[in-house]
Amino acid sequence: MGVKIVDTALRDGHQSLVATRMTTEEILSCIDELDNVGYHALEVWGGATFDACIRFLNEDPWDRLRLIRSHCKKTKLQMLFRGQNILGYKHYADDVVEKFVEKSLENGIDIIRVFDALNDIRNLACAVTSTKKYGGHCQIALSYTTSPVHTVDYYVALAKEVEAMGADSLCIKDMAGVLLPEDAYELVSRLKAATSLPIELHGHCTGGICEMTYRRAIEAGVDIIDTALSPLSGGTSQPSTEAFQYALEGTAYDPKLNVAALERATAIMTKVKDRYLQSGLLNPKALTSNPSILKYQVPGGMLSNLMSQLKEQGAMDRYEEVLREIPRVRKDLGYPPLVTPLSQMVGTQAVLNVMTQERYKMVPKEITEYLHGYYGKSPAEVDPVIRHQIIGDDSVITHRPADDIPPQFEALKEKYKDLIQSDEDVLTCALFEQVAVKFLQNKYKKEPVEVININLWVGEAHV
Ligand code: CO
Repeated sequence: MGVKIVDTALRDGHQSLVATRMTTEEILSCIDELDNVGYHALEVWGGATFDACIRFLNEDPWDRLRLIRSHCKKTKLQMLFRGQNILGYKHYADDVVEKFVEKSLENGIDIIRVFDALNDIRNLACAVTSTKKYGGHCQIALSYTTSPVHTVDYYVALAKEVEAMGADSLCIKDMAGVLLPEDAYELVSRLKAATSLPIELHGHCTGGICEMTYRRAIEAGVDIIDTALSPLSGGTSQPSTEAFQYALEGTAYDPKLNVAALERATAIMTKVKDRYLQSGLLNPKALTSNPSILKYQVPGGMLSNLMSQLKEQGAMDRYEEVLREIPRVRKDLGYPPLVTPLSQMVGTQAVLNVMTQERYKMVPKEITEYLHGYYGKSPAEVDPVIRHQIIGDDSVITHRPADDIPPQFEALKEKYKDLIQSDEDVLTCALFEQVAVKFLQNKYKKEPVEVININLWVGEAHV
């Protein structure tokens, strides 16, 4: 059996390279060719794709999904799902999580990849149960990071837990692209020995080592790798699909993809990419690897956000200082993996600590919520002195955060009854309230679109 391939061009590829601005029309221009390639699955949906559709492209993400589905007769469709956060940035009630899973599957998704930023499996439970209930394939992704607590033993123990939860497959999600080749070999070997789940590897070329890491993971028996069609590969994105087909052809790992279909899809997408380069949407810098992330262990998306935030404040001279502060904040907070939303929270706190010249003098609301336990359990203990400095003697919850959230779906349906025309619309409103309301008003009542500014820092990091 060769290695299976999931192509990420239509989700992570354009999220990593062009701020998730690929349009449905562009996607549909190559979808028939992609459906002929012979992929294990196409990753087509996730938080940023959903958000960008309604915020920037004035497109209904549910329509996009249905259109992709109608063209993909042979290929499974996959989405990325942030556990109890669904596609948003906070915890939702279980009934909203369940309804979102139900509607995603109903509209065409086959495989739901669920992850939690903290690897707190209680935050995965509802999404996993719901995916099984409605007949989807549930993949659980473990957020990969490095720290004194994130050892191979830690990941093996976690993998056994998610297997017991009912996951159909397991993904190592290296959103920062910091997994080293030999570490990947050991990790995949140990996971293969400890569980019977198919193992998938998701990496990024940001640090320039991803192909080497994939190759070693393949030798260790990884079942599936995430790659992107070449025009949307490399740099901060995934390795190129075609490169892996050519590299593995004729070996025991041969993915056996249809090269002619790949060439046709690439010819179409190269024209799209050329337009992105011309318009400036694709910054050539994003296509170059940045091995310094291996030193700082900070995701590429966080580095670029950090730079733009410091530039805005005329404080680029503090860049190195902030980079040194990020690992310190992480340690204080119990080593959370730097993935949405924790990457934004840790980054913002590091900037505040440096700019105010006093650590934790200013603290974002989200950090105080994290310290109260509202995001789940931190991987290691939070520094008790820092916690006391920020939240004093406040009690910290130890139960699953969503246990405190009463059902929301029916109330949302009632609240937006004059605006919505389907349960899908209710879910759009649940996740992205003001942006969703504006979008739906425009969609159904043809009111003019209002252009809004967003703070890039609270937007999406690479996942
Ligand atoms: Co990613």
